[in-house]
Amino acid sequence: MFADRVQSLKGSAIREMFKLLAQPDMISFAGGAPAPELFPGELLGEISQKILKENAKVALQYGITEGYVPLREYTRARMEKKGNIHDHDELIITSGGQQALDLTFKSLLNEGDTVVLESPSFIGGMNSLRSYNAKLHGIEIEEDGMNIDLLEEYLKDNKIKLVYTISTFQNPSGITMSAEKRKRLLDLASKHDFYILEDNPYGELRFTGEDVPTIKSFDTEGRVIYAGSYSKTISPGLRLGWAIARKDIMEKMIICKQVSDVHTCVLPQMMAAEFFAGFDFDAHIEKSKVLYRERARAMMDAMDTYFPKECTHTVPEGGIFLWCTLPEGYDSDALLKQAVAEKVAFVAGSTCMPVPEEGARYMRFNYSLTAPDKIKEGIIRLGEVIRNAR
Ligand SMILES: Cc1ncc(COP(=O)(O)O)c(C=O)c1O
Repeated sequence: MFADRVQSLKGSAIREMFKLLAQPDMISFAGGAPAPELFPGELLGEISQKILKENAKVALQYGITEGYVPLREYTRARMEKKGNIHDHDELIITSGGQQALDLTFKSLLNEGDTVVLESPSFIGGMNSLRSYNAKLHGIEIEEDGMNIDLLEEYLKDNKIKLVYTISTFQNPSGITMSAEKRKRLLDLASKHDFYILEDNPYGELRFTGEDVPTIKSFDTEGRVIYAGSYSKTISPGLRLGWAIARKDIMEKMIICKQVSDVHTCVLPQMMAAEFFAGFDFDAHIEKSKVLYRERARAMMDAMDTYFPKECTHTVPEGGIFLWCTLPEGYDSDALLKQAVAEKVAFVAGSTCMPVPEEGARYMRFNYSLTAPDKIKEGIIRLGEVIRNAR
């Protein structure tokens, strides 16, 4: 009954566990959302009332596919400051960063095309790729991003269409690709004639260390499609993201968006534009960074103290995730069941891998949603579960 392109899609293991995760006393590190206490709720309430009172004829009418002009212009100016737009590029507002990924894949990929991505990678990106029957080739990630030597080796015998990378504070690992690797990746794209999708929803959330220029900022040939998102910096419920791509690619993406949702909802776009016009967005982002720095620190300290010594974790400099490696012989899917029985949860590595069987030793942790004392309590509980599972 089902089309081939959806046969291999499975619901996220986490969604299936939602009921269990809703139990009282559960400490869940399985989420992937921003801290709701940071939402500018009251302000957006006032803004939306004002828009509907004064400008309902625009807010409730069809909009243009490319996006509400003031929001598009604000986003373009912000991206120009980071060198993310070149003369050959166009920017559109999308319904979340997820749609920017989907429109890219839909515009570029034929069934069976090979796409290289980090292993591990983002489940939403992988499922979108699977829905176009792309072949996923995962390349291991190192402390400074995708192993480019392995990619180079692979390219000797294989033709690929696209590399999908979450370059900064990667979901799920928290890892950031170094500037050197970014340049090497772009050189390879030029030499072997493939495109790069740089998915960067977390890039603004650096809480320590130095900024690394985006891959897009080095892109003189128009090989990089950039996906941005306001989900982690304002609110995911508004469903606002953007895509930047070379004009000929963008033309196709716009047509794909027209057949998908016609345009991104106008009211949230107007709300965001009004928010940016009247309030200090950067100051708002600063508040998120302070909170996430504290929570990331609390999680790493707790893991260093209460997890068995042989468990290691990445050290994110921003974003909302870190990635733990268990000693040989563990199975994180089994461990998750035991953990949930003890009322603590994480995302098992299998969910995040292009080849799920390769995820047994890994766990993804989110720290943005939990206060430091609860983080400590959850990590203590999980430390026990890990020890008992030996
Ligand atoms: C790596 C990555 N890309 C894209 C998205 C999509 O975000 P949104 O559609 O909410 O903008 C997410 C959300 O978690 C993500 O982690």
